[in-house]
Parts: sequence; structure tokens; C-alpha cells
Amino acid sequence: MPDAHRLRGQTHTTHSSHSSHSSHRPALPPEPYDVERVRTDFPILQRLVHERPGRLGKPLVYLDNAASGQKPRAVIDAMTRCMELEYANVHRGIHYLSQQTTDAYEAVRGKIACFLNAPSRENIVITRNATEAINLVAATWGRTFLEAGDEVVLSVLEHHANIVPWQLLQAEKGFTIKVVPCDERGLLDLDAYAGLLGPKTKLVAITHGSNVTGTVTPAAEIARLAHHHGILVLFDGSQTAVHMPVDVQAIDADFYIFTGHKLYGPTGIGVLYGRKSVLHQMPPYQGGGDMISAVSFEGTTYRPPPYRFEAGTPPIIEGIGLGAAIDYVESLGRSAIALHEHSLLERATRRLEQIEGVRIIGTAPDKAAILSFVLDGIHPHDLGMLADQMGVAIRVGRHCAEPLLARFGVEATARASFGLYNTIAEADALADAVLAVKEFFR
Ligand code: ALA
Repeated sequence: MPDAHRLRGQTHTTHSSHSSHSSHRPALPPEPYDVERVRTDFPILQRLVHERPGRLGKPLVYLDNAASGQKPRAVIDAMTRCMELEYANVHRGIHYLSQQTTDAYEAVRGKIACFLNAPSRENIVITRNATEAINLVAATWGRTFLEAGDEVVLSVLEHHANIVPWQLLQAEKGFTIKVVPCDERGLLDLDAYAGLLGPKTKLVAITHGSNVTGTVTPAAEIARLAHHHGILVLFDGSQTAVHMPVDVQAIDADFYIFTGHKLYGPTGIGVLYGRKSVLHQMPPYQGGGDMISAVSFEGTTYRPPPYRFEAGTPPIIEGIGLGAAIDYVESLGRSAIALHEHSLLERATRRLEQIEGVRIIGTAPDKAAILSFVLDGIHPHDLGMLADQMGVAIRVGRHCAEPLLARFGVEATARASFGLYNTIAEADALADAVLAVKEFFR
């Protein structure tokens, strides 16, 4: 199994990418993607796991990035600095600290807008996580505009977070849910999708990237076909915004969602991008402070978006952390990160394909660096537990995507998902662990 000395990553040369908002800056020379240097930014990667008295631990091979990313020192420090020196409630105080914190928090909204190439910071609603962002759309836009007889189009690739909120609303409103199928590779059937769209369809809500198969869906094409019928489109970008450049204007999304903790930021913060004209049609989500213009017992008026949807004290410290995470990711460049992660995916795929009895679930071209698989005769839970004993952390189970697993005829899979700090040696460690588990059960 890997040891600290063997866990050397590859270094390849690539071009740093910069957001379109930074195009006025002088072009920087291409920098090598130095994964070993990147790893030093993440304190947790220096620790050992399974340390016990009298037993040396194993180096951590963290391959569960689709579940959550680890945090760089820059994020930890920004949140600590906020709590130590620059903290007060936002949007409410006239005092120095409140204004300083408000400025810092609102600057993050601007950063998120740049990150998604949104037209303005008014398009950005800050939520507690991606799941809440989808529930917000269902509870406000959905409850206002969906009724019996309407149709909502989802896909078989969806995470439960983009299924259950619509089912909850369906029970109340009585609309129909239609599901776009995928093929054996995990690619959406675009002909079937086009055939599902019609005058009754009011919303298409589809993942931009599957957390099981890694499929990256053709968002611009999905939106183009929907908009041809005047249908709104929501993309769940939880697995994509963190790993590749996303331009909500280029794909013409009406709603786009992502989460902070997979972007190497803190938990407790998510993002809803909304088209301005659509956000303005939506009633408030939760009621409380900060989302109102004026309150009386005779009636209350609400602030315009995005604040209308942000009742109560927002996730201030988490927001500061997300801002630092965006800066960190942008400093490496999302195109460079995508290229690096792709090289890891290729290596791990090639190694797993050589192991007899491995079936990879999701083989779409240009997929994200997510590798789900099953091993003949060995339950994924056993595989995951034994791999963990070797220091290799992967996720096993249904991945909150039961319909997709049913589509592939499996009850559970093992899933390795790569992040910006993983190395080729770690991709090999995964394959070595699978081989060792196979040997164990022989
Ligand atoms: N949605 C996260 C995952 O895929 C938690 O693991």
C-alpha cells in the first residue's frame, strides 16, 4: 500500500485559466500544476488515519470529494480571521464592525457572480446548501406557477435533492413528473428529452453533472430545447461548478445551483443563481428579518431579490469562507483543475479496467472525475471498509441517487471521486486497494 514517500503526484504543465471578469489583467505565463505544492495548502492531508497506540497510521488517500472537499489553509484562516477580528451581524449595524463585515460578506456575493459569470450580484441568492437552493425554487417559483395538468421534466441522473422537493410539491399541486432516461454509458437520451417537452411542460430540472456516473450533461443544448418551448431550466451544478468553468449566461440557465463545501469551502452555505426576471416574479421563501422593506400588522412589504429570499441572519462566517475558497480555486484555475482531475480519472479508470470482475458504472465521454464501480461477488460496503483500512477513503452505497442505481441494476456501488489535490499515486492506491480486497476474498 502507499506510504508517504510513494504518494508523489505527477506534475504536468498546463495553462492557468482565469474568469472572464479578469480578462483586463495582463496575461500570466502558463504555470505548471504542481499538485505537491497544492497538497501543502491542505492541513488535513498531512495527517495519518487509523493511528493507534503501537501502530503507525496510514497516509490519508482521500477520494470522497464528490461528498465533500477538504479545506485549504486560506479558507480556514479567512474564517478564523473573521471570527477573531472582523465579525458582527450584517446588513443591520451602523457601527464600524458591522459595516466592515457587511462589505466583506457582500463582496463574496460579487465573487460568486464572477465565478458563474452571472450578469450581476443581484442574481445570487445565498442559501444554507444546494438542497435548500432547490427547495427554495420549488417552494417559491414552483408553488406559485405549477398546477395540476402541468409537467416537470427531471432526469434519471438526479440526486435525491433534485427529485424529492418536486415530489413534495407534486403531492400538493398534482402536476406530473417526467423523467429523461440515460443510456448504458450514462449519457442522457436527448431525443427522448426533446420528445418530453411540450405545452404542458413548465420546468426542466436536471443535473449538470451526475454524482454517480460523472456524466456532464449538455446544459446549453438542454436549455436551448426547453427555451424553444418557453420552459424554464434549473441546473444542479453541485458536482460541476467546483470542477470546471461554468458560465450561466453561455448555457442560458434560468436557475443554477451549487454548494460551498464541495468547493473546498465550509458547510452551511449554498448558492442559487436566478435569472433576474424570474427572481422578480417569485414570492419570498422564508419570512423574518432582513427580507422585508416594511412590517406592520396591517401588511408587510418585501425587499427585491436576492434579499427577499434571505430571511434571518445569513451564514456570515461561511460566506467569508466561501469567498476564500473561490479565490483559492480561481488561483489554480478551473480549467487547470479539470485537466489535472481528468488525468487522475484516466489513470484510475485504466487501472480498474484491468481488474477482472470490475464493472464501471458511467463511461460517458468527458465525464467528471467520478468513478463508480462494482466488483463481482464483493459487496461495495465490504470493499469500502477494507479499502478504508488501507487508508483509502471512498464512498459506498446509493449515493442519494436510488433511481439511477436502479437504472443500472445495482443496489450500491463503490465510488472514488477526485479533487484538485489528488495524485496519480493515489489513483494507483485505489486500484491497489481493489486488488488487495479481491485477494482477501479469494
Ligand atoms: N451528494 C453528495 C455525494 O454524492 C453527498 O456524496
